[in-house]
This record gives sequence, structure tokens and C-alpha cells, in this order.
Amino acid sequence: MGSVRVADVGAAMGRLRGRVHRTPVLTCGTLQRLAGRRLLFKCELFQRTGSFKIRGALNAVRSLVEEAERAGQERPRAIVTHSSGNHGQALACAARDEGIPAYVVVPRTAPPCKQAAIRAYGATLVPCEPSDESRAETAARVVRETGGVMVHPNQEPAVIAGQGTIALEVLEQVRGCSTRVQSCHRNGSRFFSAQAPEVNAVVVPVGGGGMVAGIAVAIKALRPDVKVFAAEPRNADDCYQSKLRGELTPNRHTPVTIADAVKTSIGENTWPIIRDLVDDVLTVSEEEIKRATRLVWERMKLLIEPTAGVGVAAVLSEQFQAVPREVENVCIVLCGGNVDLSSLTWLTELPGDGD
Ligand SMILES: Cc1ncc(COP(=O)(O)O)c(C=O)c1O
Repeated sequence: MGSVRVADVGAAMGRLRGRVHRTPVLTCGTLQRLAGRRLLFKCELFQRTGSFKIRGALNAVRSLVEEAERAGQERPRAIVTHSSGNHGQALACAARDEGIPAYVVVPRTAPPCKQAAIRAYGATLVPCEPSDESRAETAARVVRETGGVMVHPNQEPAVIAGQGTIALEVLEQVRGCSTRVQSCHRNGSRFFSAQAPEVNAVVVPVGGGGMVAGIAVAIKALRPDVKVFAAEPRNADDCYQSKLRGELTPNRHTPVTIADAVKTSIGENTWPIIRDLVDDVLTVSEEEIKRATRLVWERMKLLIEPTAGVGVAAVLSEQFQAVPREVENVCIVLCGGNVDLSSLTWLTELPGDGD
């Protein structure tokens, strides 16, 4: 349990073929100039359910179905998870694709729009109190009552492997200067190039660590010269602290950050992968996240959620200036676009920018 290999990521790629979008890699001249490097944006905000989470969820659910079929057993009676956000939607969607009932444990305080989105994919919502203990206890009870199977949002190995398919796609999309990148052709594609250069680094927002762990497994097996950076809010810096101390160091309190999808701490299965394969962890302030998010909205016209702004903020940060110049072509995973539009009051609090 716990270890994920590049072969698992490859198998996930096969399972996901035709079931998820191959999201485009885009560029933006303005952001590139600000960063002083070539930037490539892997646009998972355009993914089914609005985030990369469908990759891990589908791989996990499909793997359960395949295992049952191989063993000549019944398919899972139900799939259970706890999530107030993107994983809840993704798992509900993946279970619906397989015709399996999904139960999603959601804190009572979760925004109504997120609860509605999960329900819209046909899942049954089970309310719990807004604490990690209550989530885990409630999910365990639902598993007992339904005879279902729990799929953890970021520690389940099949979820980690599924998220790693982002890296396989990026390597395919940017391989060599002659490779054409799928691009969105808008208005003469002023902001978007049809060709992508080599990639020297990948920057990945980290919460529970499923996405960065899966990506690191794939990258370091296939292209060990490519750097993998995790990016997280300074207010939720458990990944940074863990790397610094050399031991798993979860956030002690629920973090306060605009990047709501990365409040979770890394866990037992993702920590060893992050410890061994992630090159560095970059932390950013709340203001940096907000500025970066707004910049992407304004300049790229992409409605990313603030969690995706964490990776952009990291590359625009002073800390990133210390990364050697040879790391010229940097791919940032724009991990999601599920913006709670009713929460945008922070936008008016920011002073205007010149550029
Ligand atoms: C949009 C988005 N980005 C990043 C993350 C963090 O992913 P992980 O928990 O695998 O680190 C999440 C997790 O919910 C997410 O929804």
C-alpha cells in the first residue's frame, strides 16, 4: 500500500483514454515577461468537472471495477468519499460514469454552490461537522452502512497515479520544439502559441499531495532532469515544513487561505514520494495568490480558481528568481476553475495594478 510507480501512471493513462479531456497547454506573453522565463500553462481548469481531480477519481473507480471483474466478484455497491470540493464532484461524476451510487460526506459549512455541484452529478450528500475527525468518522459510518468502498481524495494510490497522467500528457505535448501543442485558437491566438518548447520544470499546487506526488513519480522516472516544484500558501505550509524538518509535519490548525482546495495536509502515502522526488517547495502570501489569480483572469482570460493562482504566484515570486536561469521553460499546472463567484469580495480590496 502506498507506493506508486510510473507503470501505475501509465496504466492510469490507458484507463482514462477517451474518458477525460486532453487539456491544452497555453502560453501568455505578459506573464512570461513578468516571470522572465518561458511559461507553459497546463489548463486543467478545462478538464471534466472543472479540475484535474477527475483523473484520480476515474482511475480509482475504474480500477475497482476492473479488479472486481477479474476476480469474478460483484462491482462495488457504492463509492464513498469525504470532500467539500473538487474531489467530491469528480468522484460523483466517475461513479455515475460506471453506474455506481456515490456518497459524498460534506461539512455542513461547505458553500451551497459546491454542495449543489456534487448533487448535480447524482451523488448522495451526507452532512458532517467541519472537522477532519468528523469527516473521517462519518465516511467510515457510511462505508459500514452502504457496504461501499472508500476512495480517499489524495492518499489513495490509484488517485495519485491518476493525477500523474497530467505529467505524461505534458511531456507528450511539449516534447521537442517541433511538437505542435493543442491550443485554443481565440482571436488570432495572440496569447497562445501553437508550439511549445522543451520543459525544464513543472510547478504544482499542493494540498494533500496527490497531484504533485503523481506528477513527480512520472517526471522523475521519465525525465529526471526536469525539476518538480510544489507550491503552497504560506498560511498552509505543511509540505514546506515537512521537507524542512525531514518528517511529516501536518498543519496544526485549519489554515486560513483564499486557496481553499489546498488547506489539506500531505499524508502518509504522499509524504515519502514528496520527500524523495519533489525538488523544492515554494510558499506564497495571500496577496501574491490574489494578484496572480487576477492577473491570469485579466491577461489570459482564464477563470482559474485561487488555488491555481498559487502556482502562478510561486513562479512570479522573488523566491523563484533564485532558481537557476537554465530552468528556462516552466510548466505551471492551472489545476482548477471552480470559482465560488459569491466569494469575490476580495477582488475589490486589491489596489489596481499598472501591469
Ligand atoms: C483545484 C485543486 N488544486 C489543487 C488541489 C490539491 O491537490 P492535492 O490534494 O492532490 O495536493 C486540489 C485538491 O482538492 C484542487 O481541487
